[in-house]
Amino acid sequence: MKQVTVVDHPLVQHKLTIMRDKETSTASFRRLLREISHLLCYEATRELAMTTKTIETPLMEMEAPTIAGKKLVFASILRAGNGLLEGMLDLVPSARVAHVGLYRDPETFEAVEYYFKAPEDLQNRLVIAVDPMLATANSAILAIEKLKERGAHNLRFVALLASPEGVKTFTEAHPDVPIITAAIDEKLNEKNYIIPGLGDAGDRMYGTK
Ligand code: PRP
Ligand code: URA
Repeated sequence: MKQVTVVDHPLVQHKLTIMRDKETSTASFRRLLREISHLLCYEATRELAMTTKTIETPLMEMEAPTIAGKKLVFASILRAGNGLLEGMLDLVPSARVAHVGLYRDPETFEAVEYYFKAPEDLQNRLVIAVDPMLATANSAILAIEKLKERGAHNLRFVALLASPEGVKTFTEAHPDVPIITAAIDEKLNEKNYIIPGLGDAGDRMYGTK
């Protein structure tokens, strides 16, 4: 898989534009994030290993394609990651889930960990980490480090929006982890917000400030 995939599908770009609009309501923002996560999940799982199994259709027996290997793990970077997680689980309901609680210190922009819970056997599974925003990449880099410490070595990172700075920093820190995103914006501003961006993803999802 390429190290960076930008999903430029018209449906993704159209929905993202509505999400960026500051007049979009909390309810619409959450619904659109869930819808886009279906389309990002579709891309992130495109190269899953396949096998076949014997089934019987109403007409005959056939060797039918099915996904090989152990169940996937989705790792949600709290709290905004949950907005992507819900949609990913719509498509892969049997996936296991890890939660990585991080917040971005508003002064230093370092990621601060407050929670971590993951399935035991990450080494045997594809682990897809999800967070709508890749800004400085401090949060994403730490989350991937924590997952690797727990044994994960087949990882992907799905973000709704990324900054060019975040993509560069992340790919240098984790060159083995492909990024799948809907857009790479212009730059970070002086407060390390992505611009044009969509603001604070967590606040827009949950109506906080
Ligand atoms: C946001 C976002 C990412 C992080 C990105 O989370 O969801 O986790 O910032 O910024 P970075 O790339 O510079 O680390 P935030 O810390 O606001 O927490 P929240 O999800 O609880 O709102
Ligand atoms: N976190 C967000 O939610 N938005 C940004 O633009 C940057 C970090």
